Amino acid sequence: MKKIIVLTGAGVSAESGIKTFRDAGGLWEGHDVMEVASPEGWYNNAALVLDFYNQRRKQLLEVKPNRAHELLAELEENYHVEIITQNVDDLHERSGSSNVLHLHGELLKVRSTSHENLVYDWTKDLNFGDTCENGSQLRPHIVWFGEAVPLLDQAIEITKNADILLIIGTSMQVYPAASLIHYIKSHTPVYFIDPKPNISKSSYNNLNVISEKASVGVEKFLKLLDELQ
Ligand SMILES: NC(=O)c1ccc[n+]([C@@H]2O[C@H](COP(=O)([O-])OP(=O)(O)OC[C@H]3O[C@@H](n4cnc5c(N)ncnc54)[C@H](O)[C@@H]3O)[C@@H](O)[C@H]2O)c1
Repeated sequence: MKKIIVLTGAGVSAESGIKTFRDAGGLWEGHDVMEVASPEGWYNNAALVLDFYNQRRKQLLEVKPNRAHELLAELEENYHVEIITQNVDDLHERSGSSNVLHLHGELLKVRSTSHENLVYDWTKDLNFGDTCENGSQLRPHIVWFGEAVPLLDQAIEITKNADILLIIGTSMQVYPAASLIHYIKSHTPVYFIDPKPNISKSSYNNLNVISEKASVGVEKFLKLLDELQ
């Protein structure tokens, strides 16, 4: 089976009702990202950060995967599909995708502030006083701006093996995620789906830009795949 590696960003979940942040002028649900998604933000106002992720977690439990997530799950019938997502939602898993790597963490997990390997599933609110088994405060299991990306090496290895790279709904502004495209082999075709694609065509040998929202773009991508066979 051919390997399709899919790199997704906030745009793939936009049609489910979860806002991206570049579309809202660099704000994430009304907040400066550094306030709610950085170690400094946590240090300055942990109550705001806890509340922000509690709201995101509640919202996530109310929304559903959209057609783009579903089509990506169906793609596994004919291809080996691995998804590397920058998203902290679980909409790829809920639609049935089996190989999903969360580069920037997961909303439905929390971890210890003193032992980062102590990670727990979490669907309710996270509050002051919620602690790990060693008694340290728990924090959202999210990779904040300025923090290391522990799964980056794994994501690079997955990307290197792509027969086709499909990128959906990302502004390609958040590093190191945006640098993954540089690890494909020189002849590997790249398909880029985004209504406002931020990628330079001249930089890649085999780049196909589909300027559509995710659901329409993935349908078009599937038709192109059929034509290639
Ligand atoms: N759903 C989530 O988990 C979520 C939501 C917002 C932000 N974030 C976090 O913020 C960071 C944002 O970086 P990013 O590049 O993923 O997002 P971004 O907000 O920087 O860019 C979003 C991209 O999605 C595109 N887009 C908007 N509507 C779309 C649609 N219907 N279909 C396809 N594309 C659409 C935009 O044109 C833009 O290029 C990530 O690290 C992520 O962890 C996550």
